[in-house]
Parts: sequence; C-alpha cells; structure tokens
Amino acid sequence: MPVHVLDHPLAAHIITHLRDKTTKPATFRTLAYQIGLLLAIESTADIEIEPKEIDTPLERVTGRVLAHQPLIVVPILRAGLGMVQPFTDLFPDVSVGYVGLERDHETAQPRSYYCKLPPLAGRHVFVVDPMLATGGSAVEAIRVVKAQGAVNPTLVCIVSAPEGVAEVEKHHPGLTIHTAALDRELNSRRYILPGLGDFGDRLYGT
Ligand code: PRP
Ligand code: URA
Repeated sequence: MPVHVLDHPLAAHIITHLRDKTTKPATFRTLAYQIGLLLAIESTADIEIEPKEIDTPLERVTGRVLAHQPLIVVPILRAGLGMVQPFTDLFPDVSVGYVGLERDHETAQPRSYYCKLPPLAGRHVFVVDPMLATGGSAVEAIRVVKAQGAVNPTLVCIVSAPEGVAEVEKHHPGLTIHTAALDRELNSRRYILPGLGDFGDRLYGT
C-alpha cells in the first residue's frame, strides 16, 4: 500500500509544536490548519489538469488549470473537521461530506453516530482524520464511502501508527495514505506513541 510521509522541514516544525503538550488550543488549531495545507497540496499532486489558453499582458500562452472534476473531502467527526478548511481554501469547488465516528474509550471500537455524504461516484474522495491509531475509524469510514460509490478514495492523516496503517491495508488493500508523521507504536490504551494525545480534545479545548 502506498504510504506517503510528508518530507518537509516545515512539516517537521509544525508536528513538533503539535506534539508539545504546552501548545494551547488556539495555537494548536493554527498548526493543524498549516499542516492540513501541506497535506492537501501533497495528497492532490496527481489530480487532473487541462490546458487553457490565456493572454498575458504580453502574449498568448497555453497554461494549465484544474480539470472540472470537483473533489470531495470527508472528515471523520469530530477531529477531522480541523482538516477541512485547508481543502476548501485551496479548492473552491470542493464538496464536503461527513462521517461521524467515536472511538469507545475502553474497547477503541468506532461507533457510528452520523453520516451525510454527497454523491461520490466518479469523484476523487479524500477521507481526512488527523489520527490513524488502531485504524478502526478509518477502515469503517472508507467502507462507508466505498459503499456510497467512491472508487480509490485517499486517506489523509496527520499522525499515523504502524498498527493503523496495517489495519487499513488489511481491509482496503492498495489504498493510498498520506500522513505528516509515521509514529512508533500504540500504547496499552491504543494511543499513538509518541503521538500528540487526543487530537479532538486538544483542537477543541475539551
Ligand atoms: C480519534 C481520531 C480518529 C480515531 C483514531 O477520534 O480523530 O477518528 O480516534 O483512532 P482509531 O484509529 O483507533 O480508530 P475519537 O474517536 O477520539 O473522536 P473525536 O474525533 O470526536 O475526538
Ligand atoms: N485518537 C487520538 O486523538 N489520539 C490517539 O493517540 C489515538 C486516537
């Protein structure tokens, strides 16, 4: 399975500050937006473009613009919401769908509580969730978008654990994952190490 890890000094800088437990929610949200922008750019590197003739002030030239193939971004609620704005800021025609999943604190199993998706067939779908831990939430969200017609969706995360990557590969072989960091392992409570703690809690100050 293709796993692309962001390789940029700015990504390393942002991730380090996201990990820092003294980073306050307001700064955390800004950093999440910034890393989201880098991931949105990286994960869309192969979207379609088409030629377009325009006139510069000096001469006619054939440039390239995005082909009319609107993207769909699907955040896994709630923490995934922090990764939506980078996509909507960069891609004006993007549509947003929602999959609400909550990990049980004891079992780490995802519980579904909401789903609202636009038509997905023929669209390039990006499932976004900052944390890929056991992989249970991502596996379920990808199952849902595939069931609604998405073909070859892309998973975009900020911090991933090897266990989660393996779980996604087991259930969705060949799926492309973009992540800003690939961490060491899960702890006994299925939190990512070194990780950054509970992303949703840190994003929303809960
Ligand atoms: C977190 C995170 C992922 C999930 C990852 O969400 O945002 O959705 O856990 O864990 P997994 O890979 O083991 O499934 P959480 O369920 O805590 O909900 P929240 O976004 O509402 O905080
Ligand atoms: N969800 C989080 O927010 N953090 C983890 O480390 C694991 C799951």
